[in-house]
Amino acid sequence: MSYTYRYIPSDKENANTLLLLHGTGGNENDLLDIGRFIDPNANLLSLRGNEPENGMNRFFKRLAPGQFDEENLKYHVQDLYTFIADLAQEKKFDVNRIIPLGYSNGANLIAASLYSYANPYSAALLLHPMVPFADGPKEKLDKSQIFIAAGNNDPICAPEESQQLTKEIEEMGGEVNLHWETAGHSITSDELRAAKEWYERLK
Ligand code: MLT
Repeated sequence: MSYTYRYIPSDKENANTLLLLHGTGGNENDLLDIGRFIDPNANLLSLRGNEPENGMNRFFKRLAPGQFDEENLKYHVQDLYTFIADLAQEKKFDVNRIIPLGYSNGANLIAASLYSYANPYSAALLLHPMVPFADGPKEKLDKSQIFIAAGNNDPICAPEESQQLTKEIEEMGGEVNLHWETAGHSITSDELRAAKEWYERLK
């Protein structure tokens, strides 16, 4: 499947590419300002989810709120991977320098990629993600650096689920920075500041 997307190349050499995946009902424009804030020098690649639900853009199907269609999720993990690899050739960005940043449904697709391939990304930012697969971690994440923003009163993603996701990523070998907020499922400016500080410490 193809994606509608925005690609804004950097004028810097050896730039990272921030892969931006929005939440349910969003689109490819939603996270551009956040991407630019996190890394003003990055290429920005922002996708629109191609699995709509009642007119809302999503990245994969769900059976009910919080209950993922895991087969469909696996399909989209693979489809995303192929799409990005092809686009990297076309636009000439380095696949090894892709750092995904997702919110909610978009973060869940990124989390699912971490469970599905060995070391798919050296770093990733997950804003209010959930545990993607019920049967736990599978692949190796060789010191992948993962930033998670969670809400201690998030009605969509309970704090226990953020802790479980952290534990499973650590079991795979990832290194997680789990940042807590108190604004439910919303993205906050404090979590973005923390994300940017974390990003700037990445090697
Ligand atoms: C999902 O379906 O990915 C999660 O429930 C988060 C969301 O509402 O998008």
